[in-house]
Amino acid sequence: MESKEEDIPKMENPKIEVSATAILVCAARAVATNKFIRKALERNDHSMIQDEIVKRYYTPKLDDSTVHENLAYYDPYSFIILDCEGSTRTLENFVEHQTVPPVKQDLSHLSFQEQLILWKEVVAAFGIQTVLRRTKLIDSLITNHVINGDIEQIVVFGAGMDMRAHRMKLAASVTVYELDMPKVIELKKNEVDHASKVIEPISQSTIKYIGIDLSTKKWIDNLLELGFDANKPTFWIMEGLLMYLKPSAVDDVFQGISQLSCRGSALVAHICKMLNMPFGTRSFNNLLNLIHSSSSDPTKLIAKNAPYFTSVCHYTFQDIGTLFSAEDVEDNKAKPSPTPKNVVNNIETTEQQPIEDDFSWYAFAQQFQHRQQS
Ligand SMILES: C[S@@+](CC[C@H](N)C(=O)[O-])C[C@H]1O[C@@H](n2cnc3c(N)ncnc32)[C@H](O)[C@@H]1O
Repeated sequence: MESKEEDIPKMENPKIEVSATAILVCAARAVATNKFIRKALERNDHSMIQDEIVKRYYTPKLDDSTVHENLAYYDPYSFIILDCEGSTRTLENFVEHQTVPPVKQDLSHLSFQEQLILWKEVVAAFGIQTVLRRTKLIDSLITNHVINGDIEQIVVFGAGMDMRAHRMKLAASVTVYELDMPKVIELKKNEVDHASKVIEPISQSTIKYIGIDLSTKKWIDNLLELGFDANKPTFWIMEGLLMYLKPSAVDDVFQGISQLSCRGSALVAHICKMLNMPFGTRSFNNLLNLIHSSSSDPTKLIAKNAPYFTSVCHYTFQDIGTLFSAEDVEDNKAKPSPTPKNVVNNIETTEQQPIEDDFSWYAFAQQFQHRQQS
């Protein structure tokens, strides 16, 4: 892994913390969910969508045209999470950051629908297309290897507001372990409790939470204490996480995976390709300031730390578009407008769309051999 551990630049806006990125990703998924509902309503197909969710949260005025139909999915939990006070505060911080000069405002008077329209502007400035693609790719891997496959144990590192454990059709035999910072896990548990009163269950899996800083190796003991079985195949997910860890912690995570995996296990890792990306909006560049590691060769990274995971496939942004026949979305490239200006609810944000490009690897690897006992 390449590192900039010694010289981490100061953020322009220190309020954007790494945990806020979990809400940002959740907002991108809410926009995708709005699109999913729009299409289902157009087809008069109510088989997946829930009327109560549509009534409370669907936002017909939201411009979700940049979400390709093939990349839309149904994540009603994303609506519930965005509808909490903490998310409104996060939105305020992002909006403040996207206005020039920065303008602090109280957005709690806005309805959920009005906030979602603003969120759409915020996520567009950070890059929604990458989130849509990576979510879709990992969903399809889970479908193949867990729902239609033999794996019954999933570990989600830096789980944030990833709701696969709830929104995918996982069987009762599946256990999902979700790990993230304690305060993120606390927020998530509260919102999941709240959501369970509104959303009809889709998944039957058991979910176990671990609030932990993944820069320490304690997560291994925590998993084992909660009943994790290293002799059962596991699907390991690292989505939107590794770039925020220092290179030594990334190595530790892969080594921990290697230590706890048996034949039949699989991993998917979202890995940043380069540390200093020469593009992006001001908001996006601030996010880059949180990025501590990258790799120009995920195969080597995995071979070094988790040698029994072989046949590494790398997917790029373009590969995933091709895989889901979703290459023709207009805003995949930067809008060349010289004076970008978006006005939503009288709030003027001034960001351009970022160039959504090939700056991430999505590495998928499987373990075909037994691990040698050490
Ligand atoms: C961009 S979010 C991605 C969340 C989720 N994987 C998703 O795709 O929806 C990054 C997540 O990594 C978590 N994270 C970052 N550094 C961490 C650390 N050292 N320990 C535990 N979690 C961490 C953050 O709290 C946040 O929830």
